Amino acid sequence: MKKYSVPKNFISSVGNDNLDTYQSLRKSSKEDSDSYWASVAKRIDWFEEWTSINNTDYSKAHIEWFSNGKLNASYNCIDRHIENGLGEKAALIWQSNDPTISKNVSYNELLEKVSLFSNGLKRAGISKGDRVCIYMQMIPEAIVAMLACARIGAVHSVVFGAFSSDALKNRINDSECKLLITQDNGVRGSKFDIPMKENADKIADECPSLKTVVMVERSGNAMFMKEGRDLTWNQFIDGCSSECPAEVMDAEDPLFILYTSGSTGKPKGVMHTTGGYLVYASHTHELVFDYHKDDIYWCTADIGWITGHSYIVYGPLSNAVTQVIFEGVPNYPDFGRFWQIVEQHKVNVFYTAPTALRALMKEGDDWVTKYDLSTLKVLGTVGEPIKSPEWHWYFNVIGNEECPIVDTWWQTETGGILMSPIPGCVPTKPGSATLPLPGIIPAILDEDGNEIEERNTTGYLVMTQSWPGQMRTVYGDHQRFIDTYFSQAPGNYFTGDGAYIDDDGYFWITGRVDDVLNVSGHRIGTAEVEGAIGAASGVAEAAVIGYNHEIKGEGIYAFVTLMTGVEPSDNIEQDILNTVTKIIGPHAKPSVIQFCSGLPKTRSGKIMRRILKKIAQNETDDLGDISTLADPSVIDSLLQK
Ligand code: PRX
Repeated sequence: MKKYSVPKNFISSVGNDNLDTYQSLRKSSKEDSDSYWASVAKRIDWFEEWTSINNTDYSKAHIEWFSNGKLNASYNCIDRHIENGLGEKAALIWQSNDPTISKNVSYNELLEKVSLFSNGLKRAGISKGDRVCIYMQMIPEAIVAMLACARIGAVHSVVFGAFSSDALKNRINDSECKLLITQDNGVRGSKFDIPMKENADKIADECPSLKTVVMVERSGNAMFMKEGRDLTWNQFIDGCSSECPAEVMDAEDPLFILYTSGSTGKPKGVMHTTGGYLVYASHTHELVFDYHKDDIYWCTADIGWITGHSYIVYGPLSNAVTQVIFEGVPNYPDFGRFWQIVEQHKVNVFYTAPTALRALMKEGDDWVTKYDLSTLKVLGTVGEPIKSPEWHWYFNVIGNEECPIVDTWWQTETGGILMSPIPGCVPTKPGSATLPLPGIIPAILDEDGNEIEERNTTGYLVMTQSWPGQMRTVYGDHQRFIDTYFSQAPGNYFTGDGAYIDDDGYFWITGRVDDVLNVSGHRIGTAEVEGAIGAASGVAEAAVIGYNHEIKGEGIYAFVTLMTGVEPSDNIEQDILNTVTKIIGPHAKPSVIQFCSGLPKTRSGKIMRRILKKIAQNETDDLGDISTLADPSVIDSLLQK
């Protein structure tokens, strides 16, 4: 595999591309890990310094960093920049779905908005430790709401705006949120009436902890407002002071909960705390994106995912960036939208998902070449491996062979990027996240938990040591935290991904080793989708498999058996799709539904997914060992698609 040196005109602030700087950073982080992380932690402001750096004990699944340190994340993302004379600097350049509308929010303005909303939260009875749910699209108020929670010590739980009302309800109830912040309608692409408030109305009465619903008037459409529960954003802050001192938080006080899919049915509330998370998001944002103070930065993620938390809100804002936040979609009004925005706002650092690149690449280069992209310096990707065709398109056509590509591997659980080339220091290889960042110590283990020393041999990817941004627990279920991450390979953090190391020591992620799908970079549990399909009328059982999909990376293939007497029909198929949309959201809808008379099971009743995978991928010449099947005749019926 060809290695790409750092493009010759790229001037890095960290080092050179012969790996010397990288190796020396790595060496110092290994030799004295505490000193390394202490020096990193000094990049943010602490009200009181920590008494010890790392009190983690993996054998007890106890993660603790910067013990007794006191700080506030909102203060670090706003106030200290103003104290440093950056009050007039634009923090956000909000680019509306409508190409003719954009709006700047300076750090001074951000402080005023956040303080007003913080006081609104306090007046509504929200205090330190209370959970607040945020169900919004990409509008500045979403970021204001997150930072206002952080300011008063409330714990936010952001729910991606495309999730259904049922998914919203389950998340609100799991963490007993007292208040929900939403908007009247979502506006995205050619859809101007995504029913956000309506979704909230459907379930608010089934959420016993929920007392208040705050609604941003984005579309201006008339909405039902329940007396005593619902307020518009403006009513909520009306009469509040625009000054609100930041609460003094302990390094280990929770900052947020973010739900993510696992291999069993119910999504997990991944909990991150204040000190370690903020240090790590801030540090990696600067290191991986070679951030300079006048850069215009743009991450196209949504705040509903971890990428939005770490690389739109906490990382960039703690580094005083000016960043674009984008309400729309890459194909509205046309396929040149991303590149038109890059030209318009003179974007220097651009961070997106391979699935978006694949979708745009297939529309041809003319959508790109008509725009001036010469401001671009660093191009990032996240969420799934970036394969060779889209890597080369990104490098050649978007970056004009002048921008290093940073393929960043990480997870909701890791809080920030763990593996990525450091631009300027680490030559890239298309499809590899290259090397661990300094202070990150991965290993590849075999089935028995022994380290695989041989190169090019796939095994389970684990982290042998903690880092500050690591999740602390599954909200309300510490046992699940232990079972999911610390029981497979005791003494290590189990990532759930497979990987191998090549002859140059570079890491290649091979995908999930558990029953988690990665559809367009969105993480979806097979069990969740199977449960949703099972709720459709007439369905007896379902098994869901990921298969290679040209644009989505992985598509959802569902094998469905129906109750006796029920025949497959377009109506049932439609009902299944509607039920999945209702219970999870449209992004979890299967691309293929195959009705079958039975599922391949072992004698103990376990579904043999390996066989279904082969059928879904059309690799039916060799189905492997089928001798353990309870009823081999199901295979014939499955093959008659
Ligand atoms: O399988 C890996 C894949 O996405 C999973 C994490 O998903 P999530 O928690 O939703 O976070 C996504 C954004 C950080 C991982 O376990 N993944 C993420 N980035 C990459 C990746 N796979 C390969 N290469 C990547 N760069």
